[in-house]
Amino acid sequence: MALPEWALSLLHPWQFMLISLSFLPATLRAESLSTILFHPSRLRAAWFGRFWAFVAPNVRTHAEPHVVPLLQGRVSAGVVPRHQDSSVQGGDDSDEDRLHHPPVSGTVLEIGPGSGMWVSLFTPRFLNPNASKDTPPITKIYGIEPNVGVHPLLRAQIAAAGLDTPSPANNNSTYEILPVGIESLASSGRVAPQSVDCIVTVLCLCSIPQPRENIAQLYGYLKPGGRWYVYEHVKCFREQGWGMRAYQAFLNLFWPQFIGGCEMCRDTNTYLKEAGPWSNVDVHRMDDELWCYTMPHIIGVLTK
Ligand SMILES: C[S@@+](CC[C@H](N)C(=O)[O-])C[C@H]1O[C@@H](n2cnc3c(N)ncnc32)[C@H](O)[C@@H]1O
Repeated sequence: MALPEWALSLLHPWQFMLISLSFLPATLRAESLSTILFHPSRLRAAWFGRFWAFVAPNVRTHAEPHVVPLLQGRVSAGVVPRHQDSSVQGGDDSDEDRLHHPPVSGTVLEIGPGSGMWVSLFTPRFLNPNASKDTPPITKIYGIEPNVGVHPLLRAQIAAAGLDTPSPANNNSTYEILPVGIESLASSGRVAPQSVDCIVTVLCLCSIPQPRENIAQLYGYLKPGGRWYVYEHVKCFREQGWGMRAYQAFLNLFWPQFIGGCEMCRDTNTYLKEAGPWSNVDVHRMDDELWCYTMPHIIGVLTK
């Protein structure tokens, strides 16, 4: 007998945690005794890296229909166009195909790229398949990823996307990995304040430390007029009822221990809005998510 969607949705986090647990023995076998005994954060990063590499393709299948139009600038008011093969650059009479924001372009910060699941989206094939000549290209992408265990996979994705070649703007690879957390980005000396055209955060603000402070710090890297593209799971919305909020809080007692420090109950929406003055905020709850989702999402673009 098939379970109803609400039951599957409530059970899904437990299934995810069990899958993650199944990667712990192999991680313990691969890591040194000193890491296991004295470096719990390194052990957790290695465990999470293995688990995420396994689940990432499935997560991408589910999230890609949202993330592609988001980065193309076709998402507004939490509404995602339902079809993917549409004309991107205006001129189309369908409201679904309207550009609400410019596509990602210029100098880009991708925060927490992990195993590189979204790297291929930074290519014209995904980002602006029907681009006219005056569509500004991406000139540089910095992937801010502190978990060095996932860098080999990330590098492979960068090469597969052809983003390992020098960009017209400089001699380094178009996509460059910076092996630091965002809290240490300033000390890396690689990215100047107010120098970035676009920030992309896809399923990562749940995992960063001190989100309020670090999100505000990231705001400082955007140029005036710069854009922040967001697709994140967040704490349950008031409309979902107190039962869902309590259930999510209960799940969150266990979830971060199993999923690399990911927090379920983050008020990321508020942190983003309060990061600094925005000229336009178009970030909303996804319009088609059910009340029973333990990981409801926000999606959209903020413009500085
Ligand atoms: C849930 S994973 C998502 C990875 C990727 N965005 C994706 O969708 O497949 C969260 C990522 O955030 C990264 N992360 C954790 N702490 C971070 C920090 N302080 N700064 C930047 N990234 C961080 C993790 O290493 C991990 O790769």
